[in-house]
Amino acid sequence: MRVLLIGGGGREHALALGLAADPAVDHLVAAPGNPGIAAVAELRPVEITDSAAVAALAVETAADLVVIGPEAPLVAGVADAVRAKGIPCFGPSAAAARIEGSKAFAKDVMSAAGVPTARSRVVDGTGTPIGTALVAQALDEFGAPYVVKNDGLAAGKGVVVTDDRDAALAHAAACGRVVVEEYLDGPEVSLFVVTDGETAVPLLPAQDFKRVGDGDTGPNTGGMGAYAPLPWLPDGTVDEVMARVVEPTLAELRRRGTPFSGLLYVGLAITRHGPRVIEFNARFGDPETQVVLALLETPLGGLLHAAATGTLAAHPPLRWRPGAAVTVVVAAAGYPGTARTGDVITGADRPGIIHAGTTRRADGALLSAGGRVLSGTGLGVDLAAARDAAYALVSGVGLAGSHHRRDIAEAAAAGRIALPR
Ligand code: AMP
Ligand code: GLY
Repeated sequence: MRVLLIGGGGREHALALGLAADPAVDHLVAAPGNPGIAAVAELRPVEITDSAAVAALAVETAADLVVIGPEAPLVAGVADAVRAKGIPCFGPSAAAARIEGSKAFAKDVMSAAGVPTARSRVVDGTGTPIGTALVAQALDEFGAPYVVKNDGLAAGKGVVVTDDRDAALAHAAACGRVVVEEYLDGPEVSLFVVTDGETAVPLLPAQDFKRVGDGDTGPNTGGMGAYAPLPWLPDGTVDEVMARVVEPTLAELRRRGTPFSGLLYVGLAITRHGPRVIEFNARFGDPETQVVLALLETPLGGLLHAAATGTLAAHPPLRWRPGAAVTVVVAAAGYPGTARTGDVITGADRPGIIHAGTTRRADGALLSAGGRVLSGTGLGVDLAAARDAAYALVSGVGLAGSHHRRDIAEAAAAGRIALPR
């Protein structure tokens, strides 16, 4: 099988490692890829949101399967353009990817499907006197902590959760259209579901660390680290989420004539009333993919091909490695604000280092080229051992001004995560 992988971040590096390890995958092309992916794939330049260019590259490289990593091309309809060439594609149509592209659309689908989620209000025209009044009314209806979400794609940074009412109002004023919602109290879970639109197969649940600082302080980021599995998650939670969230959501999207095939990412809070949806994404999460795929024993190419060709019902059950995985993100100075780029990175060409925002200079030196630069992914018999392995990798990386969290998976490894009661 010849596979074309679209994207070039940490998630795509993890996907590339999984695809390259599948004996059924005999050729892997990544576009544009990154210096880490270059070790396992042929790299080709492409504008990833240019549907015609990606579809042409799929034809040119004689791909049997195209895997689209990031959300922007999905929302732009790149999967539709690939499928129009008769090539199987892992990733939803533009119509189905709206579940990530618009938070208001996602709320509408959840309400129609009876999916448990935070109560919310959509407000248009924020920044105008009427919009501001409506935002204020919604903030007061739900009370603090206040949750205000930009309606559109914002790379994980469009959400403000704060006790400061003025800060909530200020964020809304800058957005245009927002979703204001009730605060969900409880530990977060990222559940990835592989689906062909009918059959849905959950992967191992993982936990992401969204805030930039230790102890969940500071602004939201795209994700500073992750671990799997989740020893504190009550038995039966995944089954419950499949039955109450995933199946009804997929059924509602089929009913609307826009079935979702690809990866449905369910972001949840485990509240005292049970799992509640925080958000849906239309693609693998980053950096959770680094830990989930590190534990997946089932060949990845075959699984994604089955989803892309509507044959998931005939796919064998997934097999997982025993033990745990932890990934720790190394971010550039300034991230999640404007990140400094162009610094030399050392110690990054090692197994377990997943490249995200890196680039190779003509002389071969590796340079930082984005906010989240790389991550160190460690495996171990348990979370404590996997943490040690991940932090050993990160401590071997040199990058001036970089920062990373010291507490990824710490509470879980110590058995200190409590569910609200
Ligand atoms: P989102 O982009 O919707 O995933 O939001 C980013 C992050 O903001 C989430 O991972 C949560 O940490 C936080 N968040 C979003 N919505 C809520 C909510 N209703 N209650 C509590 N935290 C939230
Ligand atoms: N790690 C969060 C995300 O991928 O959206």
